[in-house]
Amino acid sequence: METASSAVIVAIDGPSGTGKSSTSKAVAAKLGLRYLDTGAQYRAITWWMVAHGVDIDDPEAIATAADKPTIVSGTDPLAPTITVDGTDVAGPIRTKDVTSKVSAVSAVPEVRTRITELQRSIAAQAEGGIVVEGRDIGTTVLPDADLKIFLTASAEARAARRSGELKGKEAADLAATKEALIKRDAADLGRKTSPLAKADDAVEVDTTDLTLEQVIECVVTLVEEKRAGT
Ligand code: DC
Repeated sequence: METASSAVIVAIDGPSGTGKSSTSKAVAAKLGLRYLDTGAQYRAITWWMVAHGVDIDDPEAIATAADKPTIVSGTDPLAPTITVDGTDVAGPIRTKDVTSKVSAVSAVPEVRTRITELQRSIAAQAEGGIVVEGRDIGTTVLPDADLKIFLTASAEARAARRSGELKGKEAADLAATKEALIKRDAADLGRKTSPLAKADDAVEVDTTDLTLEQVIECVVTLVEEKRAGT
């Protein structure tokens, strides 16, 4: 991919609960790269739709509104930020309500076009390189990325990790977490426009039996090998 000097573009895809965000942030911080959480952008546009009373069950209404919100992502891996029309939405985009609606909103082609353009322009401006995490980065957003990683893990491991991130009552219900996660994966895998998929040239890393530190180390090594041209 065309980037300045030794800039490296790393695409990390996979379903939820595979440790994608923690891994991507840590790898970017260790290697002095920028970091982009594309799931946060889809959550942000979903938050805006809900806040503006757009009917989530109406893809046409979502499509019409898709270019209205201004979404800005801060790409410091140690302190990533996300705002919509100038409002900090880092907290509100993680609610159960937004999580349950994000797959429907992100399946609308006009939403994907809008967010994909944003992602490409952020990656192109990232001096020194960037780690971009999501579902379709290696296949659609940045098909010329220097390195593509696809993280996987068993549904049990993913639900347990997600449950650990939630607080109080939500965390207690592991079965419900697993069910919600499987439902969201199925929607993300099954949508027509750029579904969750492993690129043919991606390196697959099964994180089921690995600690977060082991996954980070594995990805750092892969990036360093790439940079060294091995
Ligand atoms: O990574 P996450 O769980 O925060 O992502 C939230 C949702 O956003 C996910 O269910 C599907 C959607 N998404 C997407 O469609 N494409 C991406 N590149 C990233 C996320």
